[in-house]
Amino acid sequence: MEDLKSRGRSKIDWASRHMPLLERLRDELKSEQPLAGHRVAMSIHLEAKTACLAILLRDAGAEVWVTGSNPLSTQDDVAAALAEHEGVVVHARHGVSETEYTEHLRQVLAPKPDLILDDGGDLVQLLHEMNESDMGEVLGGCEETTTGVARLAQRARQGALRFPMFAVNDARMKHLFDNRYGTGQSTWDGIMRSTNLLVAGKQVVVAGYGWCGRGIALRARGLGARVTVTEIDPVKAVEAWMDGFLVAPMREAIREADFLVTATGVNDIVTREDLRVAKDGLVMSNAGHFNVEINLNHLAEVATQQRDARHGIVEYTLADGRRLYVLAEGRLVNLALGDGHPVEIMDISFALQALTLCHVAGGASLPADLYPVPREIDDRVARMKLEDLGTSIDQLTEAQRRYAGLADDAEPAGKEECE
Ligand code: NAI
Repeated sequence: MEDLKSRGRSKIDWASRHMPLLERLRDELKSEQPLAGHRVAMSIHLEAKTACLAILLRDAGAEVWVTGSNPLSTQDDVAAALAEHEGVVVHARHGVSETEYTEHLRQVLAPKPDLILDDGGDLVQLLHEMNESDMGEVLGGCEETTTGVARLAQRARQGALRFPMFAVNDARMKHLFDNRYGTGQSTWDGIMRSTNLLVAGKQVVVAGYGWCGRGIALRARGLGARVTVTEIDPVKAVEAWMDGFLVAPMREAIREADFLVTATGVNDIVTREDLRVAKDGLVMSNAGHFNVEINLNHLAEVATQQRDARHGIVEYTLADGRRLYVLAEGRLVNLALGDGHPVEIMDISFALQALTLCHVAGGASLPADLYPVPREIDDRVARMKLEDLGTSIDQLTEAQRRYAGLADDAEPAGKEECE
């Protein structure tokens, strides 16, 4: 156990030394204590960077309860080391069953938290299944990822959301960098370290050309692969084509694929019909939030044999002898078989999370709805990052503001003012 904790401490220490934005926020939040008296429940991939966020929220004055947001992404050494921190309670273990996973979510809700930090929407889902009286008074919370925001948006459209939630995923400083560059790099890290296979010269299929898919396709090309994108949105498909990738339906693309990565947030991207024509040796993985993109029931149905080929890799043999491989049981490959996004990326995302949660705690009470992260927070995090990068940007002059139609009190600029 001591070994486990000590490994976890080193991981947290390493991450914290590479999270300059959180470090700067720590000084401010420690002295101002914006979360004093608040109880925060967090469900988020429990690894070193998340531990740094939980400790920061504790330093800002909150009591914090933490669990994972996926049965395979919790790192036990980090969970053990985080639990040593006063004011932080951890309920999480790697490889829990679905029942234990839900029980852990219940445990972080038991103290009746008033602030929620969710990743994927499972915590909010459970809160909506509870009696309102068991729930306590929730002021509001933040959602980290695309899938969670989509679930919240649906609930808000139905008028069924019980408290205000902020879509941190949709902040520009989140999806432009976390989803694109974070997922792009960490997905290939997870695939390469678990398979130890060469990517250069291989045929890669990326399903979905959204923020994550763009990053995954870009990095695959950088590694020397030939990349085909599958999409259902014609505009995204044209974008992928113009970015220099091939575009094809899954049924065609999978015939030539050596690696296939799904990143759509939608179920049944790879089904039995696709699997029947897949290339021998295909390695399949998923970067979308839930393990529903590669249909594993269909795979079990078309396979005659199944065995563990290597840590985190299951080999399925088909009747004609072809072998297909699935990484991490179709769960987020970058977190289940890697350390998740690079530290500097999560530094940005978690600075947004911390500031947005303080905004919820300190703001006027809002009607239950889904809200964007205030522009000031997005811009503030961007400016902090620029300072950290050692650079700065220009400012609009008053005349430019008028010319650009941004000054409310001024008439639109005439032509002579442009010359
Ligand atoms: P997005 O909405 O920007 O992109 C999804 C894309 O998939 C869209 O372009 C959509 O048209 C496409 N798509 C939908 N159905 C499809 C189908 N049947 N075939 C092909 N393409 C299809 O979403 P984003 O931000 O890229 O997120 C995707 C998923 O990744 C979500 O589940 C999100 O929660 C998750 N995510 C995972 C991360 C990780 O660490 N692995 C990090 C951030 C997000």
